[in-house]
Amino acid sequence: MPSLVEALSTDVGAAFAALELPAELGQVIESDRPDLAPYQCNGALAAAKRAKRNPREIAQAVADRLTAAHPDLKIEIAGPGFLNLTPPLEAYSAQANAIAADDRTGGAPSSEPLKLMIDFGGPNVAKPMHVGHLRSSVLGDCLQRLMRFRGHDVVSDIHLGDWGLQMGHLITELEDEQPDLPYFDAGLTDGYPAEAPVSIEDLSRLYPQASAKAKDDAARNERSRKATAELQAGRPGYRALLAHFIAVSIAALKADFDALGVHFDLWKGESDVNDLIPEVVEDFKSKGVAEESEGALIVRVARDTDKKELAPLILVSSAGAALYATTDLATILERRRQQDPQLILYVVDLGQSDHFEQVFRASYKAGLAEEGGLEHVKFGTVNGTDGKRLRTRAGGTFKLADLIGEARDRARTRLHEAGLGDSLPEAEFESVARSVANAAIKFSDLQNVRTTNYIFDLDRFVSFEGKTGPYLQYQAVRIKSVLRKAAEQGLQAGDISVGDAAEAALVRRLDGFGAALARAERDRAPNVLCEHAYGLAQAFSGFYAACPILPEKDAAIRASRLNLAATTLRQLELVLGLIGIDVPERM
Ligand code: ARG
Repeated sequence: MPSLVEALSTDVGAAFAALELPAELGQVIESDRPDLAPYQCNGALAAAKRAKRNPREIAQAVADRLTAAHPDLKIEIAGPGFLNLTPPLEAYSAQANAIAADDRTGGAPSSEPLKLMIDFGGPNVAKPMHVGHLRSSVLGDCLQRLMRFRGHDVVSDIHLGDWGLQMGHLITELEDEQPDLPYFDAGLTDGYPAEAPVSIEDLSRLYPQASAKAKDDAARNERSRKATAELQAGRPGYRALLAHFIAVSIAALKADFDALGVHFDLWKGESDVNDLIPEVVEDFKSKGVAEESEGALIVRVARDTDKKELAPLILVSSAGAALYATTDLATILERRRQQDPQLILYVVDLGQSDHFEQVFRASYKAGLAEEGGLEHVKFGTVNGTDGKRLRTRAGGTFKLADLIGEARDRARTRLHEAGLGDSLPEAEFESVARSVANAAIKFSDLQNVRTTNYIFDLDRFVSFEGKTGPYLQYQAVRIKSVLRKAAEQGLQAGDISVGDAAEAALVRRLDGFGAALARAERDRAPNVLCEHAYGLAQAFSGFYAACPILPEKDAAIRASRLNLAATTLRQLELVLGLIGIDVPERM
C-alpha cells in the first residue's frame, strides 16, 4: 500500500509530466510548516531553475493540472513557488483503514531480500566487557530485528574474542595457582576432566591479576605470550583449558544478554577459525596478495586516493603469530562456506575503522568477499556525566550485570515515585521494573545518531517523562488500558472515519512507518525507529486529548477512535519490539 506521501508524489509527478517536466520533480514531503499544510512539493523551484522560468508560473500550471485531476485536494502556492498540499479527510480515512487492515500496519518488507550476517557484541573471553561491547550489542540486536522484519535472511554472531594474549595470561596465572592440574602436564594429550577447573569469578580475577603483573615484568609477559603461541599451535592441555574458559564465559555472558533481551544465533569466536588460517595465508600468498616485509607477512591495502595513510594489514607477525585481522579474514572464509552471506555487517566502535578498512580491502583484493559485501557499522563512545569514557562508580571497569542491576534499582524507585505499579502483585511489579530498565538502557543508546558520542545518565534514561524508553512504554500501556476498558464495556472497534485535525495528525504518523523502516535500514540507523516511536506516541497523546474515546456518545465515532487507538498500539508495539523494548500489560 503506498503511503500518502507516495500517492501524492505520483499525482504531482503526473502533473509535472503532463507539462513535459520531469516527473521526479513531483516528489512530495511532509511540510516543514504543518500549520500551513501537512505536505509540500518544492519541484516547481527546481524546474524553474532548469528552464529559466518563473517558479510561481510553473507552480500555478502544476496546481491547475492537479486540481483538474483531483478536485478534492487543497493546493496553495506559497512564497517563491512552493506547492502546499492538504488532502481531504477521506484520504486519511482510507489510509487509516488500510493500515488497520494490514498485519504489518503499513511497514512493508524490502523488495530485495538479502542473505545477511551481523557480527556484533564481540566481548572478549575473561576480559571484562566495556561499554563499547554494550553499545554494539544494543545496536546490533536492533539491526537484526529490523532486518528480519524487513524480510532479510539474518544470521547473527557474537564473535567472541578468545584467541589473543588474554588466553595466555589466563593459562599461566592458573598454572601458578594450581600447578598440579593435568592441563599443565606436557606429557598428557587427553583424558582431561569434563568439569571446568575455574568459575567465572576465577576468570575475572585471574586475568587482571596476570595482566597487572605482565605490565611491569617482561619475563612474566613473555610466559603469557609463549603460552598463547603454544595454545594456537595446538598444545592439547591448553586447548582443553581454552574450551573450559570459553564455556564458562559463554554461560555467564548468556545470562547477562538474556537479562537484557539480546539474542545471538551463533556463539562463535576467533578460536573457531584457527584451522582455516593456514589456508587463508597460503591463498593470499599464492595470489600474490601477501608479501614478506621485515620477517612478517603483510597485505598492502593503501590506495592512491586515500586521504590518510592506511597501514598494511599484518597477516602473520614476525614472531609467526596470527593476529586479530588474520582471524577476521579466516572468519570471512568460514562464513562464506557455512552461510554464504551477500553482506556482513560489523557493528563495532569507530576506533576500529582502520582495522576493518584493512580487512575489507584485503578480502576484496584476494577475492575472499565481493566488493561491497562487507560493511563496518560504526559507532561513537559512551561517556559518563563527567564527559569522560564511562566507568563504574568505583572507577573500575564496567560489568554488564552491575549496570543492569543499577538500572533495575532506579526503575523500581521511579515506578514508586510515579505512583505506577503499586497495585501489582510483587512478581509482576518486578517484571515491569526489569522491562523498564531494559527500555531505559536501550532507548537512550539507540535514539542517538550512532556515530556520535553520548552521555550515559541512568537517572535521565529511567524517567517516565521526556524522550525515553519508559515514557514510550507508559504511553503504550495507557492505550492498552483504554482498550481493556472498552472491551470490558463490550465496545467494538469499527471503520475509521477521520473527522478531526488531531486524528489526521495521528494518521500521518502511522503512515510514516514504511518510510521510517526503509530509512532506518538504508542508513543502519536505529535512531530513525526511535524518532518514529516517539512521534507516534506524541501524536497519540494529541489525539487522545482532543478526541475522547470511551466517553464519546456517537457509536460510530467511538468505534472509529477505538480502531485508531488499537492500530496505534499495534504499530507502537511493533516498532518498540524492533528497538528491543517490550510493553507490559499494565503498570
Ligand atoms: N572482540 C573485539 C573487541 O573487543 C570486537 C570484535 C568485533 N568483531 C570482529 N569481527 N572483529 O575489540
